[in-house]
Amino acid sequence: MNDKQLVAIHAANFVQSGMLIGLGTGSTANYFIEELARKQREDGLKVTTIASSNISMIKAQSLGLNVIGLQQVASIDLYVDGADEITPSMALLKGRGYDLVMEKLLAKAAKQFLVVADKSKLVDKIGTNFPIPIEVMPFSWQATKKSIEALGGVGDLRPNAAKDGLSITSYGSLVLDMRFPPELDEVALNQLLNNVPGVVEHGIFCALAHGILIADSQQVEARWK
Ligand code: A5P
Repeated sequence: MNDKQLVAIHAANFVQSGMLIGLGTGSTANYFIEELARKQREDGLKVTTIASSNISMIKAQSLGLNVIGLQQVASIDLYVDGADEITPSMALLKGRGYDLVMEKLLAKAAKQFLVVADKSKLVDKIGTNFPIPIEVMPFSWQATKKSIEALGGVGDLRPNAAKDGLSITSYGSLVLDMRFPPELDEVALNQLLNNVPGVVEHGIFCALAHGILIADSQQVEARWK
């Protein structure tokens, strides 16, 4: 069993029958979805789920999990998702995928947001390994990019995987992948980006995670707020 699978299975221990569970996106979240489905099948666990992406919804449904829409509820019991970077203060970078908007909505709506990751995701500072993904409205991307550049941002529109077009998110936005000067920490950047017109959502998740499960060499360490 690899570390991502180990930590995802550990996270499933926090699930109880009757809960409404938010499903993340990515390889670690996939292991969690599989374990949830196994528990439903073999242990009689009864849960309802909300997916943070179409791909996770399809996976969950194909495994027999009951998936509802966020429009049906105002809060969820537990959201389990991976991250691209995690700082010592539990700030996260997310959004290497295309589902930032739903991921942040679920993180905010969750009574408990539990992040699952292997040790490779730990960083001292957000932006260490990746640029900050910023979803922007397509019709105004140039004006929004200019506003972000005025904050010190450098970067460009994210190309699609084939590099013959642009990445389009689940909500039809374009993505700017931007790097910022080191003096701007995640708290400052979060506030600045929240105030830029045309930004739909961005990948900095400040003060949203309640707990982190980190797997390293087959051991799981839990950190709580
Ligand atoms: C998806 O948009 C991201 O926020 C994921 O949570 C992140 O990429 C984690 O992916 P892995 O679990 O595959 O590392």
